[in-house]
Amino acid sequence: MEYRHLGRSGLMVSEISYGNWITHGSQVEEDAAVECVRAALDEGVTTFDTADVYAGTRAEEVLGRALKGVRRESLEIFTKVYWPTGEGKNDRGLSRKHIVESINGSLRRLQTDYVDLYQAHRFDVETPLEETLRAFDDLVRQGKVLYVGVSEWTADQIARALKIADEMGFDRLVSNQPQYSMLWRVIEAEVVPLCEKEGLGQIVWSPIAQGVLTGKYQPGQPPPAGSRATDPSGSGFISRLLEDDVLRRVQDLKPIAADLGLTMAQLAVAWVLQNPNVSSAIVGATKPEQVRDNVKASGVKLDAEVLKKIDDVLGAVVERDPAKTVSPSARP
Ligand SMILES: NC(=O)c1ccc[n+]([C@@H]2O[C@H](COP(=O)([O-])OP(=O)(O)OC[C@H]3O[C@@H](n4cnc5c(N)ncnc54)[C@H](OP(=O)(O)O)[C@@H]3O)[C@@H](O)[C@H]2O)c1
Repeated sequence: MEYRHLGRSGLMVSEISYGNWITHGSQVEEDAAVECVRAALDEGVTTFDTADVYAGTRAEEVLGRALKGVRRESLEIFTKVYWPTGEGKNDRGLSRKHIVESINGSLRRLQTDYVDLYQAHRFDVETPLEETLRAFDDLVRQGKVLYVGVSEWTADQIARALKIADEMGFDRLVSNQPQYSMLWRVIEAEVVPLCEKEGLGQIVWSPIAQGVLTGKYQPGQPPPAGSRATDPSGSGFISRLLEDDVLRRVQDLKPIAADLGLTMAQLAVAWVLQNPNVSSAIVGATKPEQVRDNVKASGVKLDAEVLKKIDDVLGAVVERDPAKTVSPSARP
């Protein structure tokens, strides 16, 4: 496993992180979840990503139990706040009240005194940015959070936050967590150039497009048994990627991966890591073999000719529109 700085910060993260959205506390039983975490640790993964909202807060509990006994200094634990964690009107968003209550819940469930990175899971249009950033900064001063970042914010939202942080003397954002894969490149036009200039790193999610870029979903065929597309908690999220035109083109990537001696999953993860603004690719897994497969993408270099072949195969199905980075227009 190779390691990179998280943006311009001093924090090192594993190039490949392990995330537990849809899996822990939901799609997979606890013993399989623990086996995946063990496989990740064995392979040199030190960075683990979760969120208060995953599996209705159960995912943080599962991760906390799975990491119990591991030397805390050897881990980077990331979590997030924004999406609803309860029925109440204040159980959501980025108000000072919810941020303070949510971090306390996350620390309890993760069985740790601090998280390495605390991320605003979306932009909250109903809270002044100053309120959110001061609350984040307070958590840093209290030692509950070491670094702060955001997820799926636009370049303009990130720029506004940096300006306020500089004016008010708050801790600066060190990272953004966007969706990024060969199929979904919407950060390249605006978010990445700003983040490169300002020293934020990308921690990218769904680098394998939720399993689609493994090539296991065949055009015109039902999804394979046990895959995310057949799971009640996951099928809604992956369905938009399962169009025949996308799946046909993904099948055409197979010779490119084979020529390089890579699996399709490794090619997908290696592809996002070619972007120097990417600090880490967060992979999900339902089985330890998947973790062992995916981590081998660390350190792989893809040359310009390979990148061009990939672009030629995927053609028009690649999404590049920066307007696709969106947060809800009202609090969920
Ligand atoms: N910030 C955000 O808004 C946001 C949103 C989404 C995710 N995330 C983060 O990103 C992490 C990763 O997201 P993701 O799970 O969608 O990423 P992904 O790595 O693109 O997809 C993971 C899924 O693909 C399948 N898979 C993975 N490796 C495979 C392999 N080698 N062979 C065959 N199938 C394989 C598995 O599902 P099956 O076995 O079920 O097919 C696995 O659960 C999340 O856990 C979370 O931490 C963040």
